[in-house]
Amino acid sequence: MALYDQEKRKVVITGDRPTGPLHLGHYVGSLQSRVEMQDRCDCFVMIADTQALSDHFENPELVARYVREVFKDYISVGISPTKSTIFVQSMVPELFELTSYYMNLVTVARLERNPTVKSEIQQKGFDESVPAGFLCYPVSQAADITAFKASLVPVGEDQLPLIEITNEIVRRFNRIYDTDVLMEAQAVLGKIDRLVGIDGKAKASKSMNNAISLSDSPEMIKEKVFSMYTDPNHIKASDPGKVEGNVVFAYLKAFFEDDEELQSMKKRYERGGLGDVVLKSLLNETLQKFLAPIREKRRSIKESDILDQLEDGTKRAREVASMTIEQVRDAMSIKYWAKEYR
Ligand code: TRP
Repeated sequence: MALYDQEKRKVVITGDRPTGPLHLGHYVGSLQSRVEMQDRCDCFVMIADTQALSDHFENPELVARYVREVFKDYISVGISPTKSTIFVQSMVPELFELTSYYMNLVTVARLERNPTVKSEIQQKGFDESVPAGFLCYPVSQAADITAFKASLVPVGEDQLPLIEITNEIVRRFNRIYDTDVLMEAQAVLGKIDRLVGIDGKAKASKSMNNAISLSDSPEMIKEKVFSMYTDPNHIKASDPGKVEGNVVFAYLKAFFEDDEELQSMKKRYERGGLGDVVLKSLLNETLQKFLAPIREKRRSIKESDILDQLEDGTKRAREVASMTIEQVRDAMSIKYWAKEYR
């Protein structure tokens, strides 16, 4: 496989913060498209531990633990360490050099306006004391994306504002330094952009503990399905129920394959005559079937292979990132030791 053959293959990058187990929301939002793309593109899949530390700096052991767990999540859903380049962000120092240069190309006001960062700040209770590192993580993410000259970024909808900032930085860089070394990137949204949490609130999220993890046990999956938010006014099976905002239907839409059957169940539910227990049993069965092979694959991963494969991927990632760094420095006249000056 050509590692970096832009003529024929598009370059794809995505990543995840290793702060908890990846879940079904990640699967429909981005993991699934990564698996589909790895055969025809050069895929870089980053375990974004440095970004994770931007809001978990007090808990580095947790991040370290999830570097391995997220790697296992990747392998278990079919991301291949030979087809894709799976790597660890902190081990690619070129990314942080790029981040430094990009910091100059974005204003504090622009970072503060980013809706994703804004809502994260609220959710994490940072309020008036936002760590600079957290406010600036979108700049570091711009480095992640541009270091590999990626044109496609499979992510959930919440990442769109980050890609927008990336492209602004790219355009500014290329204009100011009169170059075309950096490439703009485009988001690729998953089949379903946003999977709702099992509590019916916002999206499924590691930090809100309202998601079904890829690594959950069969008992845990069942427990979570049966605790899902449905329609609080749908008390008896014979009562008419609401499909809108009903978490069980949202998950069936994402994972139940027979769409016709699903449509007819929706009608029956709205009319009255379809109970929550029947519906939840069907979802439980669907998810158990979906997650069993993923759990099986996870179990087959040899602990001793994890680090070898991560190191290998990280080495490949560094090779590509250092080519970009060379070009970036060159464009910025950071080449004081070059022959032409001797
Ligand atoms: N911000 C992403 C998330 O929270 C993780 C990430 C870091 C990323 N760097 C990236 C995603 C580069 C896509 C491209 O999930």
